[in-house]
Amino acid sequence: MIRREWEAVPESVREAVERRVGSAVLKAESVDGGSNADLAACLTFVDGRKYFAKGVVLDRELAPFHQAEALVVPHLPRTVAPGISYEVPSEDRWRVSVFDWLDGRRADLSPGSPDAWAVMHTLNGLHRRGYELPFVAHSLADAWNAERPWEKFKVPENDPDPVRAWFKKHHLTFKQLELTAIDAMVGSLPVHNALCPKHILVNGTVKFVDWTGTFKGSAVVDVARLIPHLIVAGHTPESAEQLADEAEAWSNLSNRTKTALATSILGLHLHRGHSVEITDATVEWAQYRFNS
Ligand SMILES: Nc1ncnc2c1ncn2[C@@H]1O[C@H](COP(=O)(O)OP(=O)(O)O)[C@@H](O)[C@H]1O
Ligand SMILES: [Mg+2]
Repeated sequence: MIRREWEAVPESVREAVERRVGSAVLKAESVDGGSNADLAACLTFVDGRKYFAKGVVLDRELAPFHQAEALVVPHLPRTVAPGISYEVPSEDRWRVSVFDWLDGRRADLSPGSPDAWAVMHTLNGLHRRGYELPFVAHSLADAWNAERPWEKFKVPENDPDPVRAWFKKHHLTFKQLELTAIDAMVGSLPVHNALCPKHILVNGTVKFVDWTGTFKGSAVVDVARLIPHLIVAGHTPESAEQLADEAEAWSNLSNRTKTALATSILGLHLHRGHSVEITDATVEWAQYRFNS
């Protein structure tokens, strides 16, 4: 999807945002890196305030996710997520959410960087204080159970590729582990479900953005889904898990459940056709878990 510049957003929508904020836009800079929103921009207003505006055309398949984000974010503590300052509903079939602007850089998850450690501690804070999302988000365990990626996996026949041969050899076990992982996902805490460097902004503290894919579930899911990103950033599976151990939700799990999460996250990446980079990192992690 090609993002629109602020100037290319319908005038009625821009005027509605300015009316709602109570000031005119002085400067608009598009923010790169995301993929879903039609508009993602840093807006500086004449009165000096700065906001992050994210807009979507309502006919799009992704529009419900933006609506879901607007429902969830007010329930999250400001210590982990930017607040939504204004909601600008349908004008010319658009909706725009205006968030507090976070002046941060994207997280560096590479070995030696303190960011990953800080991310685990931010997650601990969120989980310990129990910010349940009982009514405003769907259950991740139910959604995963409906998708069951390994159940749907087409087993490759006589494939010489050693990784695909490994999938074939253990397919039955992966299907069983998927059920164990789904059990471990049950809960009512917020699961961001897409934590990665571009959704983690660091500036003294760590904050998470883009809550469009949030579910309610177990605290462990965000920790587990970060492990492949740590591997992409240069960690070994072992050093990535050492960092994950900083998060209580992960360190308290049994070995079987950890392995079940690794292989199930791999199943999801394969099923959804996620990037080769993240899929390969998850294969590395799942093989490390499975073979150790
Ligand atoms: N409140 C915010 N303040 C500053 N930058 C933000 C904020 N929210 C998101 N961003 C930046 O904008 C990018 C795109 O936003 P995101 O919410 O991920 O939208 P999408 O993925 O739908 O394009 C993020 O990757 C992040 O770098
Ligand atoms: Mg995004």
